[in-house]
Amino acid sequence: MRIIQCKSKSEAIETVASMVVEKIGSHPASVIGLATGRTMEPVYEEIVKQSPSVNFQKCFFFMLDEYVGLPDGHPSSFKHYIRTHVIHPLKLKESQFAFPSSHYEETLKESGGVDLQLLGIGGNGHVGFNEPGSTKNSRTRVVQLTKETIAANKDQFVDQTIPTEALSMGIGTILEAKSLVMLATGKSKADAIKYLLNHHDDPECPATFLKSHPHFTLVLDPEAASKINLNI
Ligand code: GLP
Repeated sequence: MRIIQCKSKSEAIETVASMVVEKIGSHPASVIGLATGRTMEPVYEEIVKQSPSVNFQKCFFFMLDEYVGLPDGHPSSFKHYIRTHVIHPLKLKESQFAFPSSHYEETLKESGGVDLQLLGIGGNGHVGFNEPGSTKNSRTRVVQLTKETIAANKDQFVDQTIPTEALSMGIGTILEAKSLVMLATGKSKADAIKYLLNHHDDPECPATFLKSHPHFTLVLDPEAASKINLNI
C-alpha cells in the first residue's frame, strides 16, 4: 500500500483528480471505476477543471454502487449524482457508464476490467456499500445497509424515504481492478483510517481487504491522517 499524506484537503483532491486525468491522458480508452459521496464531489469538480487537456470520449466508467428501489432520476440516487457531477459537465454519453445490475459483472469482464478504481471510505470502514461482515471474495450483489451508514447518508436525501438496501460492487470485484485509489478527507474518517492501517483482512473493516492489492494508493488530508503516525 502506498500512502500519500497531503498538506491540505485541496492538495489531496488535486492529487486524486490528477491521477484520473493522467491515466485518461495516457490511455484514452481507460476503464475507470467511480465512487460517489461527499468526498468525491470536489474531485469531480477538479477533474472537470483539468478536463480541457484530455479526451474522455473513449473512456468507459463503472459505478461502484447504487441504492435499491429509487426510481431512475431520483435526486438522491447515485445515477443522478454522477449525471450532475460527471456526465453533464464533461459532456459524456450515458452509454459510457455501467451501473450495478444483474449483468454488471459480465459487462465488467467484457470491458477488460477496471484500470483505475476510485474509492471513498465509510466511517465504519465500508467500501462501496460493502458493510462490515462483507467477505474478501464477495461479488456485486444486493447488500443491507447498516444503521450507521443510513444515518451518515441521511443528509444526502431530499425526502425521508431512505433505502435500506443497495447494490454494490463486491470486495472481490474491486480487488480485480488494476489499481485502486482511495481518498479520505476530514476528521470523521480519522478513526476508520487508523483502524485500516492497524488491521489486515478484517471483515469488521472491509477496507482492510484492499491492503493486499499490489497497487493500492491511499490519499489522506491532514484531518483524515490526524490519528496515525507514519513518521514520514
Ligand atoms: C457512501 C458510498 C461510498 C462512499 C462512502 C463515503 O455511503 N456508498 O461509495 O465512498 O460511503 O461517503 P462520503 O464520501 O460521503 O463520506
